[in-house]
Amino acid sequence: RIAYVNGSYVAHAEAGVHVEDRGYQFGDGVYEVCEVRGGHMVDERRHMARLVRSLGELRIRLPMSLAALGVVLRQTIARNRVRDGLVYLQVTRGVARRDHYFPDAATPPSLVVTARSVDPAKGEAVAGQGIAVITVPDNRWERVDIKTIGLLPNVLAKEAAKQAGAREAWFVDASGHVTEGGSTNAWIVTPEGRLITRPAESGILRGITRTVMMEVAEKLQLRVEERPFTVAEALGAREAFVTSATNFATPVVRIDGQTIGDGRPGPVVRALRENFHQVAE
Ligand code: PDD
Repeated sequence: RIAYVNGSYVAHAEAGVHVEDRGYQFGDGVYEVCEVRGGHMVDERRHMARLVRSLGELRIRLPMSLAALGVVLRQTIARNRVRDGLVYLQVTRGVARRDHYFPDAATPPSLVVTARSVDPAKGEAVAGQGIAVITVPDNRWERVDIKTIGLLPNVLAKEAAKQAGAREAWFVDASGHVTEGGSTNAWIVTPEGRLITRPAESGILRGITRTVMMEVAEKLQLRVEERPFTVAEALGAREAFVTSATNFATPVVRIDGQTIGDGRPGPVVRALRENFHQVAE
């Protein structure tokens, strides 16, 4: 395997960044995960637009033009012979003597890109079974709209889920409403058949898959309501699911040990999955 690190393609096993990289010391950076399908990035344009936004919010420079970045992403995918899988990119504020203040404006940001194959059958198998989620208090900062590499609350929440025999953790805000998953956006289907997901204006990352799924829903003439929902409402839902670039839509069949619907993946999430890649770019 090959990784791109600050201007060079290197063996994955030897790919490293400097010990004084601000990503390593402060979590001072952002990332994107993009699905690769048939050798091409899915929704590349939207992922790049979100990257630019995240960098802007943190006042980190784009390390190179978007066109050049596109070349690096494609090269990394090609050099790893990825047809179906994921490409990961990370930009940090660069390498500088440890100091909380931003380094000199001339400090170049660091860029790392990796790509790996993932067997699509694995995602299908998980989706066929459905997953269990637990709920945990949302103890994250207010700027979860930025896709930062500072993911400690997410790491702890997802590990807690794993320990509890579940796969994802849903964060719940102080008013009892679900915000999102540790690495996914959260959705439910009401008994009336309406799709509910939290507005992206507060408390969540604006998932690219979430945005595309809204278009899929429209195509399928499903009603989508962007509003917060409580854990109680989710427990009474007909279906629940999560979305992310890693497995577009994954049915949720248990929340905190309680069965959702009939405990099996439902027709709405199945239809969304089946139509996703016709709508995604
Ligand atoms: N996670 N919410 C959070 C907190 C996320 O980390 C992610 C993605 C999403 C879904 O966003 P998108 O549809 O753009 O993937 C929502 C990535 C996949 C990860 O951390 O691996």
